[in-house]
Amino acid sequence: MSKILIVDDDEQNLVVLEEILKSHKYNVLTAANGAEALDKARLDPPDLIVSDILMPVMDGFTLCHEWKGDGLLKKIPFVVYSSEYTDEKDKDLALKIGADRFIRKPIAPEKFLEIMKDMENNAGQINQASEDSAINSEIENKEVFKLYNERLIKKLEQKMLDLEREVTERKKTFTALQESESQLRALAGRLTEIEEFERKKLSQELHDKVGPNLTALNINMSILKNVLPYDLSEEIKSRLADSSALVEETADFIRNVMADLRPQVLDDYGLTAALKWYGERFSKRTGITVEVNGEDLSPRLPLDIETAFFRIAQEAMTNVVKYAGAGRITLRLEGNDNTVRLEIADNGKGFDVTGLNPRERSGWGLVNMKERAQALGGKFVIESSPAEGTRVIIEMKR
Ligand SMILES: Nc1ncnc2c1ncn2[C@@H]1O[C@H](COP(=O)(O)OP(=O)(O)OP(=O)(O)O)[C@@H](O)[C@H]1O
Ligand SMILES: [Mg+2]
Repeated sequence: MSKILIVDDDEQNLVVLEEILKSHKYNVLTAANGAEALDKARLDPPDLIVSDILMPVMDGFTLCHEWKGDGLLKKIPFVVYSSEYTDEKDKDLALKIGADRFIRKPIAPEKFLEIMKDMENNAGQINQASEDSAINSEIENKEVFKLYNERLIKKLEQKMLDLEREVTERKKTFTALQESESQLRALAGRLTEIEEFERKKLSQELHDKVGPNLTALNINMSILKNVLPYDLSEEIKSRLADSSALVEETADFIRNVMADLRPQVLDDYGLTAALKWYGERFSKRTGITVEVNGEDLSPRLPLDIETAFFRIAQEAMTNVVKYAGAGRITLRLEGNDNTVRLEIADNGKGFDVTGLNPRERSGWGLVNMKERAQALGGKFVIESSPAEGTRVIIEMKR
């Protein structure tokens, strides 16, 4: 079967052509530019060459010119296969230089194979034609050189235009991306606001409506216990006791839900008190020792900043239980006239912060913390190492 040399600087094109030809039992050689093609062909001449035009090192026109001027290679049919130079004048030039066929990309595989077959079948004629049309006079050579220069300049102008167009497109895309990023950021901020508002509202309703009812129910139960006849059956007595316990339990449960939704201590006493309260609660629940260092900040921070610090601390501490295997968490809150800084450090096993690939993100916790801090103009830093555990640091202007 015929041996075909394909020359193209585009790896994808090479692979596609190679596969098409190989699947039809052709032997295939490949080269990434004209110079490489010449070297390969001189060592192992093919039966046919298919070459792109625009390539680094040596382009297809020059390759064709060299090919047709080489005693060993000139009889081998030369097919130009290009999408870069699709002008009729490019075809004229290629044929003038000695190319035997000019194919424009893209072309259907069947059509491409048909042309290959055709080239094989007519190789004799083609060779003769090549010999006849070989450029031998100096005048012709000059004319070809002039044409070649013209084509190159035209191509460069085209490339410049393409580049300018691409730069404009990219600028537009960049601006659109920036816009949608800021919209997303605004949306994330708004979502956080809504979440906080809803939590507060729900907690308030539980506090104002369910709480007083439970208290009233409890009082009623006590009154009932006192006014009912002394010799009530054991069954009724135990049902009453059970109901009182249920009311107590439900009240406790509701208090916990309210605290989880929105701790009252944060609104009433501020961030330091809320962190201390949460640390104790967290410690009881998880068995991890929590140390909170920090004085009350005076004057108090705006409520949205306090809330962001508190929620970030919660999220970071949840990560510690889930992943760190730590025995201790230390929270340090420091503030001066200009900035407030909160550090949440654990003594756990740490993790590879640089390995956090946004595409393979397992969760939203860290992204959420960062967004929350940045939405209020703050900084978010996470440091982690196997020896020293993990530190989450948030800093905001007050
Ligand atoms: N304190 C920590 N110690 C060890 N690994 C951590 C710690 N904090 C975070 N990580 C690692 O970082 C990853 C990302 O954490 P992130 O909070 O973003 O997601 P998540 O906790 O898996 O999910 P989500 O927070 O959405 O429920 C975790 O999967 C974990 O591997
Ligand atoms: Mg998390």
